[in-house]
Amino acid sequence: MTSIFLLTVGFLQQIYSDWMAPPNVLVCCSGHKVPRASGVRRLPSHFPATNRRYNRNPKKSKTMPLKWVFNWQPNAGSTVNSQILNEVSQCVESMNGVKEGRWKATLTFYKPMLRDQALAGEFPREFIGISLPEQPNKYYFILRVNKIVLEADSSIQLIMEKLQSYKSRVALNFEGFQYQLGDFQLRVGKVVPTHSENLRGIVMEVEYLPISSLEKSKLIMDEFVDIWQDAVSKRSLPGHFMHIEPNFSDYGLADHYTSQHTAVQYAHVMGQLIATVQAVQAGRN
Ligand SMILES: *[C@@H]1O[C@H](CO)[C@@H](O)[C@H](O)[C@H]1NC(C)=O
Repeated sequence: MTSIFLLTVGFLQQIYSDWMAPPNVLVCCSGHKVPRASGVRRLPSHFPATNRRYNRNPKKSKTMPLKWVFNWQPNAGSTVNSQILNEVSQCVESMNGVKEGRWKATLTFYKPMLRDQALAGEFPREFIGISLPEQPNKYYFILRVNKIVLEADSSIQLIMEKLQSYKSRVALNFEGFQYQLGDFQLRVGKVVPTHSENLRGIVMEVEYLPISSLEKSKLIMDEFVDIWQDAVSKRSLPGHFMHIEPNFSDYGLADHYTSQHTAVQYAHVMGQLIATVQAVQAGRN
């Protein structure tokens, strides 16, 4: 009995230490850990698939892979188009990204349905609801003005429909393909209004699987971004991907990454998309 217990503990510790690989090493093709100090910056040494297995079910593990969400920022005078989306996807494939399947997130703007306008001041004027593929049974609410993020059961959407106190004003889908690049998972997707094919933006999620700490993963993420910019710059596209990290502590979120961090990032990407559209419109007027 004791030995089985010890075996189990040993096994769990192994998994734990695999997950918690320190951020100052990069895992190489044969599973060797390459210290960053050696200055290895060439692509192949960073992105082979390692033998590590990741628990892709966040419910079963406290370690939530960390991610940065990027938004395509078109150069002044240009707009997004599907050619850019194709080139970005080709770029991921040229980095030996292995296509894994489709993904989709949905973002909805809600506004109150007030019978008595005098009460308007008592309700949030508008908030955002988000469903994420990584948490199919959850739904997230974000009030950007008040810096609030909430995680709810996905059935809340049905309840809201029944209550009729808020109604969906605009809904957008983020959808595309998912790729695996060694310890990274990339999702490239278009932003389109639901029930329409009008391309409104392009997003990219970069997920680093072994680490949950924003602080500890920053160097590796920065390095990935450098390599990415290198690869994508050869294509001379009219714009670039931008990542602006929201101030998570404003929302009461800690350094340990959770899906609430993802929801906040999507809400902020939405803000950037709106700002870009407004800038283009202002330019035309
Ligand atoms: C982020 O927000 C926290 C709490 O609201 C604040 O103390 C901190 O200065 C902010 N950090 C930045 C970089 O703005």
